[in-house]
Amino acid sequence: MSSVAQRFSRAARTYERGAGLHRHVAARLVGMMPDPVKFGDGRILEVGCGTGVLTEKLRERYPGAPLCVMDMAEGMVSCVRERWGEAPGMDYVVGDVRTCEFTSMVDLIVSSSALHWAMPLDQTLARLRRWLNSEGVFCAALMIDGTLGELHGLRRQVIPGKTPVGRLPAGEEVLAAVQSAGFAGVCSEVETIQAHYRSADDFFRTIHAQGLTAGSVSRAPRPLNRKELTRLMNEYDLSFRDEKGGVLASFVVLYVTAVAPSVGSRQ
Ligand SMILES: C[S@@+](CC[C@H](N)C(=O)[O-])C[C@H]1O[C@@H](n2cnc3c(N)ncnc32)[C@H](O)[C@@H]1O
Repeated sequence: MSSVAQRFSRAARTYERGAGLHRHVAARLVGMMPDPVKFGDGRILEVGCGTGVLTEKLRERYPGAPLCVMDMAEGMVSCVRERWGEAPGMDYVVGDVRTCEFTSMVDLIVSSSALHWAMPLDQTLARLRRWLNSEGVFCAALMIDGTLGELHGLRRQVIPGKTPVGRLPAGEEVLAAVQSAGFAGVCSEVETIQAHYRSADDFFRTIHAQGLTAGSVSRAPRPLNRKELTRLMNEYDLSFRDEKGGVLASFVVLYVTAVAPSVGSRQ
């Protein structure tokens, strides 16, 4: 298992405490999905299901549709399995979307707050495109460049020698990858959400408990020591106060919908 998968697996039982933002994103995303009456009982694949924040909403919107949930973190898939168990139509896959075997074809692929972890995105999207039936729909929300911009900027300033090497994709890069994967009818929206935390300490603990501090976007090759972390936290408290007496952190979300062109149609 990759270290990111292990980190998310360990975070499965504490993820939902800070997931208000993810619930908001999932609710907005569901509103962009196909009309349930027209969609009928088509097959759905959810990528990066986590603890099932979006899964819950999918079951409400498409109660009769077969739904396969996939996540590379076993602990996350266990949470969804505990909730939905043997419910009719539910299927569970522990796997990395970039490499796992997936042989079924589906009519709708959805993903909320997950695909920015599945880099390189162009290859991931090309795989997803191949799993969609003709005229199938792709609906995803993912975090893009600018997310946690306050933290990343402050960290570069306060501890310049320990900057993470990774970065989130820009919105244009995501949209270019969607196009080059062969999707048509691409529509997108960007939302910037300013999340509130009681303090920098609360903010750091919350995102850590959710597993969001894994990976090359957050981690430098040499980790921060306790003294550096305390300094970063103190500076954050001073620099990013909000009107509620806590601190704010920005999340920039790209919502994208697209269609797999019907066989024989020109793109
Ligand atoms: C921030 S959580 C979002 C979970 C859920 N969709 C939500 O909205 O709360 C990201 C999830 O994506 C999963 N994930 C990240 N990269 C993945 C990959 N390459 N393949 C499958 N799952 C992945 C993680 O294990 C984690 O559970």
